[in-house]
Amino acid sequence: MLQQFNEENRDLIVNINGHLVRRDEAGVSPFDSAVQGGDAVWEGLRLYNGRIFKLYEHLDRLERSARALSFAEIPPREKIVEEIKRTLAANKMGDGVHIRLTLTRGMKVTSGMDPRLNQSGPTLIVLAEHKSPVYSKAGLKLITASVRRPPPDVLDARIHHANLLNSILAKIEANNTGADDALMLDTRGFIAETNATHVFIVRKGDLATSRVFACPEGITRATVIEICTAEKIRCVETDLSPVDIYGTDEIAVVGGRAGRRFPGTASCQSGSDPARWVRRLAETIFCRALIPSVIPDQASHCHEHRHDRPGRDSCDYDKEQKLGDIVPTCFCAKEFAA
Ligand SMILES: Cc1ncc(COP(=O)(O)O)c(C=O)c1O
Repeated sequence: MLQQFNEENRDLIVNINGHLVRRDEAGVSPFDSAVQGGDAVWEGLRLYNGRIFKLYEHLDRLERSARALSFAEIPPREKIVEEIKRTLAANKMGDGVHIRLTLTRGMKVTSGMDPRLNQSGPTLIVLAEHKSPVYSKAGLKLITASVRRPPPDVLDARIHHANLLNSILAKIEANNTGADDALMLDTRGFIAETNATHVFIVRKGDLATSRVFACPEGITRATVIEICTAEKIRCVETDLSPVDIYGTDEIAVVGGRAGRRFPGTASCQSGSDPARWVRRLAETIFCRALIPSVIPDQASHCHEHRHDRPGRDSCDYDKEQKLGDIVPTCFCAKEFAA
């Protein structure tokens, strides 16, 4: 699942603090806090047919994270939405797009970590790319990384910050063993998540996922839990250890990166249909989860097709959206777990 350069992105227009510039001319200052200290917050958004998956939930988390880091200034939500729209319009984008939205503490008057050196407001970067889901249809191979996720009193994962080195170290371990990604444990030895996505396991038809202790408050994760409630599927948030992973019937990783192939993986250990649950959940998710968010030109269209209940087959739009590219895939935890 090494991503490749996509020709469609050669002439991208990037938005940096409201300036729309070609990708090869775009730049942030060496004095910017993201460069100086990874001092930034970010969100990954996906655009499907003019709709952004849970945009407002992502913006809530961006704002919460920036507040937790004591950013002196946070752009108003309308401004952020406007800049997203301008960027999508400049790139003539409407579907199959991943947006990396970054808000840094901004420029410093001189190098240094002290936030008081930031005196000119934050930097907002909207990077929209044509991007397919990053996970292969052939399944994921995971190792268990030796590097652990920090507890909230070291660095709280509820802050969706751009300092990703902890996860990058785990990803390097995965790369070094030929795996796709790494399961990461917290300092107590329980599963946090993978280096990039949340993890759900299936046990006798019920679902379980890690508590939010050393993983972000995932928006896709919350959506899965919400759908389970609506579908009367028992889903528990609990401490899971690697033993739970080895004993599971199916496993799914979920998150913006999994994209339309959400949830992304299923275990091959359960016998005849390795992705029973994944299929079932996937069949309902786009009806419920693709809540209209942005792009006013499409808003009425979205509103028309909004469903109160998942799984209803009442419009072509949802039929088209249903399942998308979801393909059951194979995950062999035992083989690759360290
Ligand atoms: C470490 C990590 N885990 C999981 C996710 C998925 O979260 P969400 O579903 O909220 O996009 C992300 C997304 O940014 C992430 O950075």
